[in-house]
Amino acid sequence: MDIKAIREKIKKKLTGQLLVHSLGVESTARRLATAYGANEEKAALTALFHDYGKTYSSSELLQIAVENNIADELLLLEPSLLHAPVGAWLLEHEWGINDREILHAVKTHTTGAAGMNLLACIIYLADYIEPGRTCPGAAEIRELAFQDLHKALLGAVDLTIKYVLEKQSILHPHSVLFRNWLLSFLRNNSSGVAES
Ligand SMILES: [Fe+2]
Ligand SMILES: [Fe+2]
Repeated sequence: MDIKAIREKIKKKLTGQLLVHSLGVESTARRLATAYGANEEKAALTALFHDYGKTYSSSELLQIAVENNIADELLLLEPSLLHAPVGAWLLEHEWGINDREILHAVKTHTTGAAGMNLLACIIYLADYIEPGRTCPGAAEIRELAFQDLHKALLGAVDLTIKYVLEKQSILHPHSVLFRNWLLSFLRNNSSGVAES
């Protein structure tokens, strides 16, 4: 099956709010890809696929994860995170998608990860700022997204970590590693020249 046929079949599985959200991430990822010189079509495709795991129930995700040794212990405890690595696994093993960049971006879109490539950064951010998102700080991050990708990502991961702490949910160490990587990236890439 070619990628266009897979795209159409997967799109049909996304329904209701999940489809609205996925299309919002798709259009936002296209705009970010254009702004930052990434492949627009690949960004759009990855965005459409990013929540494919959510077409499965929590118990199905858990079962697939355990049977195939996909996720670590913490992910198994947090079903809201599990759809990302299991979704990537399903895209690879059910649909035959073997593009490592697409799979990596889908896998990391909830927790983030240190050293994420441009496509993964775009998907993480597009997921946070797509037009349907009304979470606290989304408007500010939306504005920053087209000025400085990594600063916007840092804002998004900071707000996500705050939210996780407030909810007393499990904070995955990959989110902390992602934040520290963004901080060191921003420090190393700061020109040190004050703006006038
Ligand atoms: Fe997701
Ligand atoms: Fe999403």
